[in-house]
Amino acid sequence: MSPSDSCYVIVGGRPLRGTVAVSGSKNAALYALAATLLTADPVTLRNVPRIADIDEMAEVCRSVGARVTIEGETVRAETPVITSTAPPADQVMRLRASFLVMGALLGRAHEALCAPPGGDVIGSRPLDVHFVGFRALGADVTREDGGYRVRAARLRGARIFFDYPSVLGTVNVLFAAVLAEGHTTIVNAAPEPEVAMAAEMLIAMGARVSGHGTPTVEIEGVPTLHGTDFTVIPDRLEAGTYLLAGAATGGDVCVANAVPRHLDSLIAKLREMGAEVDDSPEGGIRVAARGALQAVQVQAVPYPGFATDLHPPMAAALTQAIGVSIVHERVYDNRTLYVNELRKLGARIVTAGESVIIEGASALSGTSVRALDIRAGAAVVVAGLAAQGETTVHDIGHLDRGYAGLEERLTALGAQITRR
Ligand code: EPU
Repeated sequence: MSPSDSCYVIVGGRPLRGTVAVSGSKNAALYALAATLLTADPVTLRNVPRIADIDEMAEVCRSVGARVTIEGETVRAETPVITSTAPPADQVMRLRASFLVMGALLGRAHEALCAPPGGDVIGSRPLDVHFVGFRALGADVTREDGGYRVRAARLRGARIFFDYPSVLGTVNVLFAAVLAEGHTTIVNAAPEPEVAMAAEMLIAMGARVSGHGTPTVEIEGVPTLHGTDFTVIPDRLEAGTYLLAGAATGGDVCVANAVPRHLDSLIAKLREMGAEVDDSPEGGIRVAARGALQAVQVQAVPYPGFATDLHPPMAAALTQAIGVSIVHERVYDNRTLYVNELRKLGARIVTAGESVIIEGASALSGTSVRALDIRAGAAVVVAGLAAQGETTVHDIGHLDRGYAGLEERLTALGAQITRR
C-alpha cells in the first residue's frame, strides 16, 4: 500500500494534554538541501524532518550531481561536480521547493533548465519574482521544452525590487546572488524565519549576507562557498498545528522547542480567543484552553502576519469558538477547499471569496474526510480530534509530506489516532 492509500482513524472528543517537541522545519530543510548544491564541499544538515518531501528533494539534488545520504535526521550532501543542469521534469514537478535548483545551479554553474515546479493546489503560484531577480543579475530567462532556461555569462550584483515578497523567490535569488560579482540588494524580500535561516546557512558557508529576516537583504558576492555543519530550525507550522489542536480540544499542550518569536501572530490570536499561552524566552510555547474559546478575526498574510499555512488548522480550531469568526486569506486564491471537509464533520463554515466565515461553537461528529493538501490535512486532523466519535482521514500522503511522526506525537498528547 502506498502512503497515500493509508488513512488515519481518529477517535476524537478528548482534550490533548502533555508536551511534544517538533521536527526541524520542512521548508527550511528543503532550502538547506538545495543550498548544498552551491559548494563542492561536503555539507552536513542536522534536525532534518523525516518526511517524503525531503526524499523527493534529495532525488532532485542527486539528479544534478549531488551525493546525498539520509540517516535519521542527519543529511550529508556533497556535490563535487555539477553533472547536469537539467533535473528531470517528473522529479521537479513533485514539489514546489525543487525550483530552488534554478538559483543554485545559476549561482554555481551559470545555467539551468527546469520544469515548472509542482506543489499544493492552493492557488495561482506565479514565478515572475524569481525571473525578475535572475534577469537583474544578468541572466537570460527563456521558455524551453515546457520549462524555463536561465543562463548567464557572468552574474553581476544588482538592486532588485520584488513586486511581492515571495518566499521561494527570495531564496532562489539569494542563491544566485551570493556567487555573483559585486553587491546585490533585494528590496521587498520575504522575511520568513525559514528564509532567514537559509541566509544563515549561506553565511556559515562563507557568503556575505546581511539584513536577512527583514524586507531588505544585502549580499556581497564571493567567488566560492565552502562546506558547513548546520542545524535546521524547529518547524513553526508543525508547532502551530499542535498548539491549535490543544486549544480546539480544550486541552493543555506544550511544544517544548517552539520558537515564540516565530509565532507571535498565532500566540496573539490564541490569547484573543481566550486561551492561556505561556511563551518562555528560553523557547517553548504552552497553550491551555480552560474556558470556552471566543471567535476572532484573522488575516493570513506574509510574515510576521498570521501564516497562511496555519489558516486551515486555525479555521478548524475556530469551529470550537463561540461566535462568528472570519479568516481572510490574503496570500493564496484557492486555499479554502478544506471548508467542505470541515462541513462534513458538522462545522458551520462558509466561504465568501477568499474569506472563510465560521459560526461556533459546533458539536462536530466524526465521519470520513480527505486531506486535500498538507495544511488542509492538518485542518481535518484538528477537527477530527475535537469531534465526537470516529473520523477517518483519507489521502494522508499529503500529511506525510509535511508532518513527521504525526500519529506518534498526537498519541503522546493523549489522542486516539491510528494509521491503517
Ligand atoms: N507571488 C507572486 N509572484 C511571484 C511569486 C509569488 O505574486 O512571483 C504571490 C502569489 O500570489 C502566491 C503568493 O505570492 O500565491 C505566495 O507565494 P510565495 O512565492 O511566497 O510562496 P512559495 O515560495 O511558493 C512557500 C512555501 C509555502 C508557503 C508560502 C507562503 C515552500 C516549499 N513553500 O511557497 O508552504 O505557503 O511560501 O508562506 O517553502 C506548505 O508548507 O504547506 C506550503 C505551501
